Amino acid sequence: MSFNIAIDGPAGAGKSTIAKQLAKELSFIYVDTGAMYRSMALYFMRNDIAKEDEAAISDACKTVEVSIAYENGEQQVLLNGENVSKEIRKEEVGKMASATSVYKEVRKKLVELQQKLAADKDVIMDGRDIGTCVLPNAQVKIYLTASVETRAERRYQELLEKGAACDLEVIKKDIADRDYQDMHREISPLKQAEDAILVDSSDMGIEEVVETIKNIYREKC
Ligand code: C5P
Repeated sequence: MSFNIAIDGPAGAGKSTIAKQLAKELSFIYVDTGAMYRSMALYFMRNDIAKEDEAAISDACKTVEVSIAYENGEQQVLLNGENVSKEIRKEEVGKMASATSVYKEVRKKLVELQQKLAADKDVIMDGRDIGTCVLPNAQVKIYLTASVETRAERRYQELLEKGAACDLEVIKKDIADRDYQDMHREISPLKQAEDAILVDSSDMGIEEVVETIKNIYREKC
């Protein structure tokens, strides 16, 4: 039987950084489910499908192909065969993903893909609904969070290092808006699973968070 680790939490809590490092140290496969919602969102944007148009979005779900591949151990996401891993990282794609992940057909399609990936492999999967919906039987469930201020400050520093123009207050508002949208949607809202362990990384460094989750993993296996 495969061993599954689910990591859920709000945008900017450090889920992907932590999950990637853990996957390397534990020799697990890392699955970034946000990238799948972003790829679908990119498709809707490219095809001028409005975020409010549920009928067109549901229709597109029948034909769009999202798949993942691994290149030097890094997850790549393919949209109808095209590698869109870089393009989906744009801020506007993240916002569109949050707006369109509310729809039943979008979630159904991607949840099926995620469950298939975890069925026969040891995976660390991060997202919003992994512990509550995608992998309810995951042996380890973590809810990784940090204050809005901490998450905004981290994002601000990241953008500054890249030389991008940014405004801390705008970033803070974007993060708070995305939290609200993800936590208040009707289907699979972001929330801590009853059996998930809360890790608040507001005052923790990356290494400390990785060690904390590794210790939780060791207790379970
Ligand atoms: O994690 P990331 O910021 O890449 O996710 C983009 C958006 O995709 C989230 O804001 C959320 O609305 C959606 N998402 C989701 N369920 C997941 C992963 C992401 O609804 N398992």
